[in-house]
Amino acid sequence: MKIDFQETTDDLAKRIDIHSRYGSKDIDAWMLEVLNLQPGIKILDVGCGSGKQCFSFFHHLNGKAEITGTDVSESLLDEAREKNKAIDHAIDFKHLDFNEEFDLPSNHFDLVSACFAIYYAQDIPFTLSEMYRVLKPGGRLFTTGPMPTNKQIFYDIIREATGKPIPPMPGSSRYASEIYGTTQKLFSKTEQHIFENPLTFNSVEPFMVYTRASMSEDRRLWNSLFETHDEFETVMNQIEKVARKRIEADGTLVMTKVVGGFIATK
Ligand SMILES: C[S@@+](CC[C@H](N)C(=O)[O-])C[C@H]1O[C@@H](n2cnc3c(N)ncnc32)[C@H](O)[C@@H]1O
Repeated sequence: MKIDFQETTDDLAKRIDIHSRYGSKDIDAWMLEVLNLQPGIKILDVGCGSGKQCFSFFHHLNGKAEITGTDVSESLLDEAREKNKAIDHAIDFKHLDFNEEFDLPSNHFDLVSACFAIYYAQDIPFTLSEMYRVLKPGGRLFTTGPMPTNKQIFYDIIREATGKPIPPMPGSSRYASEIYGTTQKLFSKTEQHIFENPLTFNSVEPFMVYTRASMSEDRRLWNSLFETHDEFETVMNQIEKVARKRIEADGTLVMTKVVGGFIATK
């Protein structure tokens, strides 16, 4: 399966903002709790985007860690580097395409993290084996992604609005099955943690900001619903009508994010 995916700075930032404003739980706090990071460790973050997890790890450890953040998107790396100025460039941000061999030494990192990214890999066993290679023996891999029950209401609304089936999403269709299975085969020990975060919308506007950001740059995944800009706008109007009707009927619209976190030990 070839997945051509490029997150834009703007779409990612909008979704992160909606999660923090309308969610009741803090995903960064959950990650830090399940990971129990120790000072002095070497961390590689793959698919770091604008550096959300890198900065969270850095601040949690009071800077006592060697952190490398990597991504294929130069614009997201530039944004991360901009934020990195505030901490005196303490994090090393560099280009890495996880569909190719990592230009990094073997047996080097204590933790490799890949948050909401690995399911875009063309060849999951290849990418996971590169992650395994660069980990020290006893080192841990942490991946996160949406579970199959993730944001059911979002997909229900799109289905009702368009009358069409939801195309397979790489995250929810690959994460709990293919990625967990391959991780279990490669690593000596694997554990699974679940994070649930209900996002409560009292009006349709923030839900539509989320929907637009989620569907616009992922548009290749949704091409059975729209291809042109006009078709995209038509679908957004249909979705907005259904979402508005539900909010009027129920008072709120609650979209629950259900995220899995897999910790695997080399
Ligand atoms: C949903 S974002 C997550 C970013 C960040 N971890 C976060 O949670 O904010 C997915 C990231 O995977 C990156 N990505 C997609 N394909 C990639 C590839 N082939 N190699 C490296 N990163 C990739 C995207 O550029 C994007 O930054």
